[in-house]
Order: sequence, then C-alpha cells, then structure tokens
Amino acid sequence: MSLQGKRIILGVSGSIAAYKSAHLTRLLVKEGAEVQIIMSTSALDFITPLTLSTLSKRPVYHQFQKDETGEWNNHVELGLWADLFLVAPMSANTLGKFANGICDNLLTATYLSARCPVMLAPAMDLDMYQHPSVRKNLETVQSFGNHLLDAESGELASGLSGKGRMMEPEHIVEQVKRFFTSKLDFQGKKVLITLGPTQEAIDPVRYISNHSSGKMGMALAEQLKEQGAEVYVVAGPIHISVDKSKFHWLDVMSAQEMFDASAEIHPKMDVVIFAAAVADYGPAEVAPEKIKKSEDTMQIRLKKNIDIALTLGNQKHPNQLHVGFALETENESAHAKAKLAKKNFDMIVLNSMKEKGAGFRGDTNKVHIFTKNGKQVESSLMQKSEIASMILDEIKKMSSWTEA
Ligand code: CTP
Repeated sequence: MSLQGKRIILGVSGSIAAYKSAHLTRLLVKEGAEVQIIMSTSALDFITPLTLSTLSKRPVYHQFQKDETGEWNNHVELGLWADLFLVAPMSANTLGKFANGICDNLLTATYLSARCPVMLAPAMDLDMYQHPSVRKNLETVQSFGNHLLDAESGELASGLSGKGRMMEPEHIVEQVKRFFTSKLDFQGKKVLITLGPTQEAIDPVRYISNHSSGKMGMALAEQLKEQGAEVYVVAGPIHISVDKSKFHWLDVMSAQEMFDASAEIHPKMDVVIFAAAVADYGPAEVAPEKIKKSEDTMQIRLKKNIDIALTLGNQKHPNQLHVGFALETENESAHAKAKLAKKNFDMIVLNSMKEKGAGFRGDTNKVHIFTKNGKQVESSLMQKSEIASMILDEIKKMSSWTEA
C-alpha cells in the first residue's frame, strides 16, 4: 500500500530530533503523500523551513501570517484539509500545550482545529520522558484519542542512553501506512483480552506472581480500539498508566477471578486474546493472618490453578477466534505448537526469552506466530505496538469478516 493522495500535516516542534523530520518528509512524499509541514516557533532553531519545503515540495508554515502576502494561514482550513495530523518530533513543550489546550502558535492552533486522527511521536531526554508531568500529559492526549508513536530506546543527543528517542522515520511511515489500511477492520467486533500477571495470595500481605507488565496486552487493546473493536480487558495487577475509560475494564487479582470475569463474557466475544501470564499454581490454603517467621525453611503447598485458555477453548464456538501466547525458554517452537493444539487456539504468539530486547517488561518484542493452519510468521525486534499491529493483521487474515 502506498500513501498516494493522502493529505498529511507534519508538525515539527523544537527538538534535536527535528533533523529526522527531513528524512520522514522524504519517505512520506516518496510514498505518494501530500505533506504540509507546520513548524512550531522553536523548531526553527533546529531545522530550516527551506530544507523542509524543498523536500515536501510545498511552502512550510510557521506563523499565522503568510510572509509574502500578509494573508493569514488559516489553521481551521488546514485542520480540515488533512487526513492525518502527525507531529514528529513532539517536544515536551508542545505535548504540554496539546494536553492543556494552549494555543500560542500555528501548530498548536491547527491541532485544536484538526478533525482528523492525530499521531504523536515524542522525542525527549530520558529523564524528561519519565517525568510525571510528561507521563500525565501523554496519558491526557491519549485520552483525547490521539495515537502515541511511543519513543524508542537508544543513545540520546544528551549522551545519555535510554528511552526518549523519536521513533525512527521508517517505523513512523510503517505505522502511518498501517493506520490508513487497517482502519476500522474490527468495527462491530467484540474482543476480550486477558493481560498482566495474576497474584495468588499466600496470606493477607504476601503473594505469588510473575514479572508480566501487561504492555503487550495493552498494545493490542489500544490498536483494537483504534480499529473499531469493542474491547473488553480483564487485567491482573499492572503498573503501567492506561486510560481505562476507553475499554470495558475489569480488574482482577487471582487466576480464579480472571477466569470468572472472562467466562462470563466469553460467549458473546468474537475474538479472545489470552495475553495474561496466569500463575499456574497458587497456595493450596490462604493463611487468614500474616504468617510469622519461625523455622529456617518453610514449605507452602501449592495447587494447580484453573487453565483459563484451555477451559474456554473447550467452550469455543466455530465463529470465535482464540489467540494464545507462549513464553518458552527451550524447545520453543515445539512447545508453542503443542499449546496451540492442546488449548484449541487458532493462533499462538511465541515470545522467546532468549532474544535480547524481547519478553516481559520492555517496550520491544520479537515473536513467532503459528496458526492452526500451519502458517508461520516471524517478526523482527520491534516496538510492542508494531508487534500488536502484526498480530492483528494475522487475526484479520484468519477471520471470516475481512478480506485482509
Ligand atoms: N493460560 C491461561 N490460564 C492458565 C495458564 C495459561 O489462560 N492458567 C494461557 C496464557 O494466557 C497463554 C497460554 O495459556 O495464552 C499459554 O500460557 P503458558 O503459561 O505459556 O502455558 P502453560 O499452559 O501454563 O504451560 P507451561 O507454563 O507449563 O509452559
């Protein structure tokens, strides 16, 4: 798919990463998009309008008044013209303005006037990116329905290393293309996602759990929502910031609670994604009071928890699609394929613990997908949001409701 004829406003704000917007412009134009660049005032300190106007083949706007004619750049018209409003890089300052309705330059004014979808690619130093005020603003703009192109990890202009780099232009173009192709493919579909770990109580203050962050499940939930699905999330205890209001959200703690919540809604679901890392065993008895320290060693008797995917897999009706996850450390493909069959999955996504940058806590992942029809797809190391898009593409291909 190309971006032929798509009208994209590319907002450039004041960040060292502004130099990358030149490359991004080239890639978008090469794909056939019409790119109208709007720069914030401070972006002018980082890259010249001449560079960007040459690459976009259009004048670049950065002030309300057009230089030559004295006419004004009508932000309302610009906002209505665009099919997509993309800001890359988005500085902490511009983010703060977007989150709070501050309108002091052409870029912020156009943001407020735009009726089209918005994609934001932040670029900051790692401490800035983690600051509670930035986290809060990111949450706020996402609650407006803006799509976040999450920053990547790596070396930063400050010399520090960590998360904050703007998503690479190639990856942004990929996301933009996916956005235009996969729009609303899940319209009218009900999707249940189990995500996060479960916590199995030992006594009132202690529990057994695992390192699952819930990030992969959340990436799927976000994308499904954007593609029109009605998303039901049954979440174990997670510690990432999410806007729960977009979803039918149920918080649970134990495997049994996760099962009970999922089983109740399962019959009306079109797709179920079992992304939770469910504890396989929990204490056979929960001590009513805090267990006091006594002997040098102690034993806790465990009993097997209910297997949610297996139980619901046995109740699956023919037009439901079940997707499982597997995290393996050895003999990975064989184990994953065995789980695919045993739990009556239509598709299983294998995470390898051996891959650097893949697995539980991080923002990236590398997976293999196996379908019940024998198809195999392998991803490269990508952002979890990109992995989510890939998984959804495969679900669409298996589903009866799209031709994708
Ligand atoms: N799963 C589940 N309920 C459980 C255990 C697992 O729903 N009690 C789901 C997971 O959400 C995942 C898939 O089953 O989609 C495979 O989970 P995994 O932990 O890899 O498999 P297990 O069957 O627990 O096998 P093992 O831990 O022995 O590898």
